[in-house]
Amino acid sequence: MGSPRKGGNTDLLLDAFLRGVKDGGGEFEKVSISDLNISSCRECLVCEDIGDCVIPDDMHPVYSKLLKSDKIVIASPSFFYGFPAQLKALIDRCQALWARKHILDPVPSVSGSGEERYKRNIRTTDQKEAFVLLLGATGGKDLFDGQLKTIRYFLEPLDASLTGSLLFRKIEKQGDILRHPTALDEAYRAGRKF
Ligand SMILES: Cc1cc2nc3c(=O)[nH]c(=O)nc-3n(C[C@H](O)[C@H](O)[C@H](O)COP(=O)(O)O)c2cc1C
Repeated sequence: MGSPRKGGNTDLLLDAFLRGVKDGGGEFEKVSISDLNISSCRECLVCEDIGDCVIPDDMHPVYSKLLKSDKIVIASPSFFYGFPAQLKALIDRCQALWARKHILDPVPSVSGSGEERYKRNIRTTDQKEAFVLLLGATGGKDLFDGQLKTIRYFLEPLDASLTGSLLFRKIEKQGDILRHPTALDEAYRAGRKF
């Protein structure tokens, strides 16, 4: 849960999704980013040598949850067309997992542009599934483009791929999501299927 606002739109939407997960027989752990103390990446790059992050904070249990879970759901509002800083810090700290996979345990013969390397490095076996729930106040077509791209890169070192998304525009004030005609129902049904 990537919003700093507990009980806000993202939280309510994610809870509907998780009710669906539960009713579908799934088990889950909800992690609210605002409960955690996760520093931003310092780019010390020690992770490129040891495959782990040296900053001693709440990111460490998150690494193991991300790696051990069968599936991942990311729920977030749009903040300046990107992720809230707390969630972006978590994403950036996954550079340690990227280093583990691509520097310490690299797939052979990677060359070309960053985009090409990224695509060629995707391991297709044992991919875990991920789902994303995004919402924002404005209504533009490209509102979530940046966040969706970040999510794809975030999931790659986790050997996860995005298999579904729900995107809601024009959701601004706390509780607006409750007034949306279909959002909570869509989230519940998506969670149940997921
Ligand atoms: C710091 C900040 C930046 C925001 N930037 C955007 C934005 O770029 N685009 C947008 O559509 N909404 C933006 N919003 C609005 C939120 O996405 C919107 O109010 C959302 O419903 C908040 O979700 P929450 O209740 O789960 O926190 C921003 C809100 C805040 C507080």
